[in-house]
Amino acid sequence: MITPVLLCGGSGTRLWPLSRKSYPKQFSPLVGEQSLFQASAQRLVGNGFTEPLVLSNSDFRFIVTEQLAEIGIDPGAILIEPEGRNTAPAVLAAALWLEQSDPEGLMLVAPSDHVVPDAAAFRTAVKAGEDAAHNGQLVTFGITPTHAETGYGYLEMGAPVEGVISVPLKRFVEKPDVAKATEMLADGNYLWNAGIFLFSVKAILEAFTTHAPDLVTSVRKAVDQSMSDLGFLRLDPDCWSEVEDISIDYAVMERADNLSVVPFAAGWSDLGGWDAVWRESTHDRRGVATSGAATAIDCDDTLLRAEDSKLEVVGIGLKNIIAVAMPDAVLVADVSRAQDVKLAVAALKEKR
Ligand code: GDD
Ligand code: MG
Repeated sequence: MITPVLLCGGSGTRLWPLSRKSYPKQFSPLVGEQSLFQASAQRLVGNGFTEPLVLSNSDFRFIVTEQLAEIGIDPGAILIEPEGRNTAPAVLAAALWLEQSDPEGLMLVAPSDHVVPDAAAFRTAVKAGEDAAHNGQLVTFGITPTHAETGYGYLEMGAPVEGVISVPLKRFVEKPDVAKATEMLADGNYLWNAGIFLFSVKAILEAFTTHAPDLVTSVRKAVDQSMSDLGFLRLDPDCWSEVEDISIDYAVMERADNLSVVPFAAGWSDLGGWDAVWRESTHDRRGVATSGAATAIDCDDTLLRAEDSKLEVVGIGLKNIIAVAMPDAVLVADVSRAQDVKLAVAALKEKR
């Protein structure tokens, strides 16, 4: 059995005004009926998976329970981080928690802000990594890169081993600059890191102990002194405040030499901006995607979203436009400037 470890503590600022610090993108239905978090949980039900272990920020704990109840999923446990410390401490806390019941077991670390349209193909990819994970490998999932993205990790593939589906990795490079990303894209031997990981509890604890021993000490304290609170397991806030803020990619993946990758070609997007949401949404013939009470008249390649039932949004003659209306904020931008939405968030912060 594999324990799904669902990470849902991040806040995606590039999807402002829908994604806010208090209600980040993973809890919204950006593509389809369910929220991204619900879809991520649903992908990993049955089929050799146990109940999920959810890790979230204190602020989102009731959103998590409500959204899981809505789709009839009973979480194995919900670990609450008193504040966000990025993904390395979260994964480490999960591993230390699981060590108590199943140290040899496998955990599948899954972000909750991705779109993976073909759930069955995804589960097949996970199965393909199982043997390597049982053998102590830290298994990643690789996406064929399409452009020199600087927001992802890159996986340099080694020589394939006959009869084994996962490929050993030579190197993991987290968030390169444009020059390096362009080089790796041209090289052809690199895949993007999907941000999904499969490993045994034992192997990831060994990796943390080797590459980030101080983190193990501080996170272990927070887990040992955690308290049960209204069905949540709350990591100790005093101990947690001592924990370093670092992602698993920098803390472990860039440093480890026991990495493998299962290539995954069945469709994946991390919805890193409104342009990606537009691409992943259902369009009409002219490339228009609407959501809520939005009407497009004579528009092309445009995303129009009304994010509240009281709002009516109408676009006329638009081309390559993103328009997202919330009761208290409206974004209108050219599709090509979707990544600059984070500038708007920074500018607004400054104004306050
Ligand atoms: N519980 C918890 N606590 N979850 C967190 C925290 C935290 O402090 N910080 C982030 N997360 C969750 C996010 O909600 C998301 O689901 C997932 O962990 C990944 O975090 P991101 O902050 O979105 O990471 P990233 O997109 O910058 O980079 C990662 O994903 C890329 C693919 O989307 C890396 O793994 C890259 O290498 C990878 O290419
Ligand atoms: Mg992300």
